[in-house]
Amino acid sequence: MRFDVVTLFPEIFSGYLGQGLLKKAIDRSLINVQLHDLRDWSTDKHQKVDDRPFGGGPGMILQVQPVVDCVEHLQGLVATPAQVILLTPQGKPLDQPMVELFSEQSHQILLCGRYEGFDHRVIDLIDPLEVSIGDYVLNGGEVAAMAVIDSVIRLVPGVLGDEQSAVDDSFSSGNRMLEGPQYTRPRQYRGHDVPEVLLSGDHKAIAQWRKEQGEQRTRQQRADLIQPERLPHHDNDNP
Ligand code: 6GU
Repeated sequence: MRFDVVTLFPEIFSGYLGQGLLKKAIDRSLINVQLHDLRDWSTDKHQKVDDRPFGGGPGMILQVQPVVDCVEHLQGLVATPAQVILLTPQGKPLDQPMVELFSEQSHQILLCGRYEGFDHRVIDLIDPLEVSIGDYVLNGGEVAAMAVIDSVIRLVPGVLGDEQSAVDDSFSSGNRMLEGPQYTRPRQYRGHDVPEVLLSGDHKAIAQWRKEQGEQRTRQQRADLIQPERLPHHDNDNP
């Protein structure tokens, strides 16, 4: 799986790419992440990539030319055009079903915004999928691009170790429940004991307890994930 990341700050990614599961996956050629400095694509003599908004207003807008030229170059390198994802707080919220769709494609181009966003003609010309990672404002799309990469690569076969599995993660297909609490040694710490059932060896009881704990957490923290039972409606009922 290949990710091309277009950003004004490629250095932001270096720590992330050099660590843990992602580094291992890159070393094993399961994942290929290429960083592209947007400034390299500016035709301006001072490598300018932004300008003030027409109509006035605060901040600076990313200009259309460097972004479009860079994306056209990247698309020209491959036989099948890649999915283009534009990271913006105006985008569709990232969720696990969207991550699952991304993981089915072998190539993504991620466009990271800075300043007050992109000239809208980037969206007209490239027709990217606009994606947000939540209802808060970041200084740029770089952290959001890392969230996309991190969530997608977990679903690429071979990236997770044998002992880990993405299939029963919260939010994976059909699973809209949070996970319950987990414990490891020691059994007792500052008067807080590990729940007895987890030490019982009774696998059925443990599974049942975990399910209940997950449901309780979901009700407390994320009631929005619990769909109200669909009530039968009687619009067309005609006695
Ligand atoms: Cl994708 N970008 C920025 N700048 N802020 C965000 C975001 C993205 N998602 C949530 N907030």
